[in-house]
Amino acid sequence: MGKDIFGIGLESSCDETAVSIVKNGKDILSNIIFSQIDLHRIYYGVVPEIASRSHLETMNLLIEKALKEAGIGFADLDYSAATNRPGLVGSLLMGLQSAKVISYTLKIPLIGINHLEAHLYAPFLEGREFFYPFIGLLISGGNTILYNVRGIGDMEIIGKTADDAVGEAFDKVAKFLDIGYPGGPAVENLSKKAVKKNVKLPRILQETEDYRFSYSGIKTAVINYVKENPDIDKAEVVFSFQERALEILSRHVFAAARERSIKNIIVAGGVACNGRLRELLMNNKEEEESVIIPSPVLCTDNAAMVAGLGYQYFMKNRHDNLDVDVKARL
Ligand code: KG4
Repeated sequence: MGKDIFGIGLESSCDETAVSIVKNGKDILSNIIFSQIDLHRIYYGVVPEIASRSHLETMNLLIEKALKEAGIGFADLDYSAATNRPGLVGSLLMGLQSAKVISYTLKIPLIGINHLEAHLYAPFLEGREFFYPFIGLLISGGNTILYNVRGIGDMEIIGKTADDAVGEAFDKVAKFLDIGYPGGPAVENLSKKAVKKNVKLPRILQETEDYRFSYSGIKTAVINYVKENPDIDKAEVVFSFQERALEILSRHVFAAARERSIKNIIVAGGVACNGRLRELLMNNKEEEESVIIPSPVLCTDNAAMVAGLGYQYFMKNRHDNLDVDVKARL
């Protein structure tokens, strides 16, 4: 057995400040997440200036806590990894600068991580050996992207949203109906209370042969429906919205895997917490592909996925220089 490798991961691309210590790219020794949801709730969305200030206030405390919980010290770290793209620039800088200080002081490699690639690494922190290729579906508040993942850093985009991200549509529908923030869990919970299921909303891109997604039309359809039917039970509306929003994900993901004869599918990002989506993907007996969805705590933003993916880059000697920058977009 070789020496154990300890990595620290830092995540601050949006509204979660997170720090994690991971051993050998697979064992999570600590996974500390500070969610800023309460700071942004009254605005019904993430306010960039508030987000970066909060990362600044909490990052150091979380680093100390993560090391303590993992039972190791700074001197034990072999590499330092931070999300440096994509995300809110001011927020990304807080994590990346902290990772640079750790790397510079300890003279250990620095690794800038693609947040989207990290999300798809989450299953490998739950007992699975790292493998590829796989079809990756990344669904969150900012992204709806279908990938053919061929290797580390080798991700071909095969489909994406033409307008809103799926999580964004959940959030906007919830805001319009005033049922809570963040919208995803609010929609999911309310839809379980639907007694009647008669609201008819249009299917999303039913005839398309490519892997495009589109969510602004369905959001507008919900708004128009409620304006025309002001007495309608909100639960009935969100039930129908959720069915429509999720069915296109399931359709595209299986079709993309089948067309490429790829047997494994990984679904990650905040929307992957949705129980109805898990049911649609996991109980689909007609499909041969195996679908892997991480536990909810590893679906939403966290730093274990950053430290874990960082290990793969570390082992391949793919490091960054200290002048590596953040990028709002890929
Ligand atoms: O990956 P994530 O934590 O953060 C980023 O977007 O970066 O995802 C958050 C998104 C939000 O849009 C939220 O409403 C959605 O994931 N979400 C859900 C559920 N839980 C979170 N959407 C549908 N159903 C859920 N249960």
